Amino acid sequence: MAPSLPPLSPPSLLVVLILLTSTALLCESRLSLDYYSKTCPSFNKIMQETITNKQITSPTTAAGTLRLFFHDCLSNGCDGSILITSTAFNKAERDADINLSLPGDPFDLIVRAKTALELSCPNTVSCADIIAVAARDLVTMVGGPYYNVYLGRKDSRFSQASTIEGQLPKPNMDMSQIIDLFAARGFSIQEMVALSGAHTIGFSHCKEFSSNVGNDTQYNPRFAQALKQACSDYPNNPTLSVFNDIMTPNKFDNLYFQNLPKGLGVLKSDHGLYNDPRTKPFVELYAKDQNKFFQDFARALQKLSVYGIKIGRKGEIRRRCDAVN
Ligand code: HEM
Repeated sequence: MAPSLPPLSPPSLLVVLILLTSTALLCESRLSLDYYSKTCPSFNKIMQETITNKQITSPTTAAGTLRLFFHDCLSNGCDGSILITSTAFNKAERDADINLSLPGDPFDLIVRAKTALELSCPNTVSCADIIAVAARDLVTMVGGPYYNVYLGRKDSRFSQASTIEGQLPKPNMDMSQIIDLFAARGFSIQEMVALSGAHTIGFSHCKEFSSNVGNDTQYNPRFAQALKQACSDYPNNPTLSVFNDIMTPNKFDNLYFQNLPKGLGVLKSDHGLYNDPRTKPFVELYAKDQNKFFQDFARALQKLSVYGIKIGRKGEIRRRCDAVN
């Protein structure tokens, strides 16, 4: 016969309760690779199908989604707060000036993925996890490295444009400001340079660099001429934009770094990476060694993908990604 346990005294009962609660919280708060394997077994399949269909019909989705993810994470953590739309009472993050140039395709992709996931597994998958996986899968799809995305992020319960100021880098900042901005969030100079390699894909609007092209000697003269020409009508047509990597604009590779020493960077901050002694060695390293760039980019993006995340009760699973529950 099993020995009967003595009745618990109030203090030991309290200890057991604390232990049970903290174990439950620990389980709930831990990220894992197979977070949805039981609660949403079709998660990977739905994500893959939605992402592939979207990227095939709109090939600019990859770059837009990577930038969306970067902007969501660096300001207030990877919590999907960038997806929330403004209301009459609240101007949300996505309406902050710096986010107005984010294209519509990545937002559309997240809506599609969330809609499909809600049909299969309601109230289960966070919008923050959807962006993290979408960014990784799209980087890989356009030729970049694969890395593991740990899952279990919760979504933020609010989003305010006023909190964005000063949290994201701008092309006219000097290199010390950019370095400090990343350092304040735990990213080294090398990690910042590796992450900037994201500019191997996508576009920049003319307004982001046109004022520098004429008076910045870092630009290759023929390239400067071509940029001026491409942007000549930008005051009347603000949608005008150019590729960030003119050599292989749709391929994730290290050509962005090879372009910089030749004066073929588009933004002032791109040139800054080659002209500052603190960042130049890493530009040279990545220009020479694509494998090293891929390794460091993947590691830094994986680190960014858990920056400031909300876990457990600190967040929620939004039913719609564009509004709090
Ligand atoms: C280091 C400082 C950085 C600055 C100053 C900067 C600034 C910019 C600017 C001004 C644009 C053009 C946006 C437009 O006109 O639509 C852009 C595009 C882009 N940025 Fe950055 N960025 C930085 C770092 C990063 C990082 C770390 C990532 C991702 C890990 C990233 C990903 C992208 C992508 C993918 C695009 C192309 C977006 C598209 O085609 O829709 N950037 N960036």
